[in-house]
Amino acid sequence: AAGKLWGGRFTGGQDPIMTQYNESIYFDRVFYSQDIRGSIAYARANKNNKLLTEHEFSEIERGFKQILQEWQDNTFKIQPGVDEDIHTANERRLGEIIGKDIAGKLHTGRSRNDQVATDMRLWLRDQLDTLEGYLVDFLKVIAARAEKDIEHVMPGYTHLQRAQPIRWSHWMLMYGSFFASDLQRLRELKARVNKSPLGCGALAGNPFNIDREAIAKELGFDGLIMNSMAGVSDRDFVVETLQWGSTLMMHFSRWAEDLIIYSSGEFAFVKLADAYSTGSSLMPQKKNPDSLELIRGKAGRAFGHMTGLMMSVKGIPSTYNKDLQESVEPLLDHVKTVGDSTQIATGVLSTLAIQPDAMLRSLTPDMLATDLADYLVRKGVPFRETHHISGQCVALAEKENTPMDKLSFEQLQGIDARFEKDVLGVFDYQKSVEMRSAKGGTSKSAVMEQIEAVKKALAGQ
Ligand code: ARG
Repeated sequence: AAGKLWGGRFTGGQDPIMTQYNESIYFDRVFYSQDIRGSIAYARANKNNKLLTEHEFSEIERGFKQILQEWQDNTFKIQPGVDEDIHTANERRLGEIIGKDIAGKLHTGRSRNDQVATDMRLWLRDQLDTLEGYLVDFLKVIAARAEKDIEHVMPGYTHLQRAQPIRWSHWMLMYGSFFASDLQRLRELKARVNKSPLGCGALAGNPFNIDREAIAKELGFDGLIMNSMAGVSDRDFVVETLQWGSTLMMHFSRWAEDLIIYSSGEFAFVKLADAYSTGSSLMPQKKNPDSLELIRGKAGRAFGHMTGLMMSVKGIPSTYNKDLQESVEPLLDHVKTVGDSTQIATGVLSTLAIQPDAMLRSLTPDMLATDLADYLVRKGVPFRETHHISGQCVALAEKENTPMDKLSFEQLQGIDARFEKDVLGVFDYQKSVEMRSAKGGTSKSAVMEQIEAVKKALAGQ
């Protein structure tokens, strides 16, 4: 331990298992470029404070440029047992390149506590930009397909029982609404991630009056985490990312579940492209929706990381404690899960073949029982009464073992004399969906308006 960055006060060695247990280099190495950017910005601020000479600063910058190149070329050699984390590794290497006398000045007033928080925020900020791009692509496919497939009518369900006819696009735009909110939440989250904790020191702040604003500006942060203790102990930006992504995955999971059901032989509303399906090793006829099942399964994994991290954070006393290192791996995994899932979802949806005939075949006249009740409402009968009358028609059709639309006009009149000849016009699915033209409904004009709303959400309006 005497050879470690922090080894001054240590005389005994470290248990080798402890060394491994403690080290994070094998996952936090992904932050190598952020760590270097942060260090250069920090050194520049110290140069401006006259803690570093021009020459010392340019040496530090030169050293880091070489280290960056080494990481990029995959020639950086991690020293097992020595390079505890990315910060230690980069600083060790800097000393080798420019000499320890100058490299040893870099960390003045800084702590790995503000350093790691900075690295993570810089990294996450860029990742969230990428995830936003994926989500925007997915929403564009939703909007485009909703428009293209607007003619097709299918059963809408409650309790997974046939309820009322809807446009296929209306189903699609329900998810459009969910995912548009996810996009909005992501944009709000990004603003909270993109704040600078650099210059907070270990916890109490910087004693050399470092210009934190200048550092933040150089790093492209939009302001500071002001309180230095908050700066080093805050992992809310990670928790919130996991919460956001979990909500997104929850929506993807429901969406996937719908499509898994709709792709079953019993429904056959949709056919998944081969590109997103797999076969069975035993049953030659099988084509399974594995892509959708993985999305549904990975939602569970996302929620696990979210609750796991909240559990880890909830009992931590202020300020930095090593528990916080446990926020890194879930974050890395989460960002990959969400990014992969969104891209797969986009692929599935853009290649999905819909089977409008099967959708039509699944519509049954009793799904128009509400429309039959509404017909009498338009003749001035109170809805509670019409509901009952329509229910009697459903019962009669069931008793006669005939589809409801095949009941004769006389049979309908036998139930209620207020039925007139035009009642037979009720049994028309297209008419039924077109009736629902109030905002948010399933008529064509109402669906078109929803498509516009999704497009507006994409533009951040
Ligand atoms: N690898 C550490 C982390 O990810 C860096 C911070 C170490 N700070 C400390 N005081 N031990 O949290």
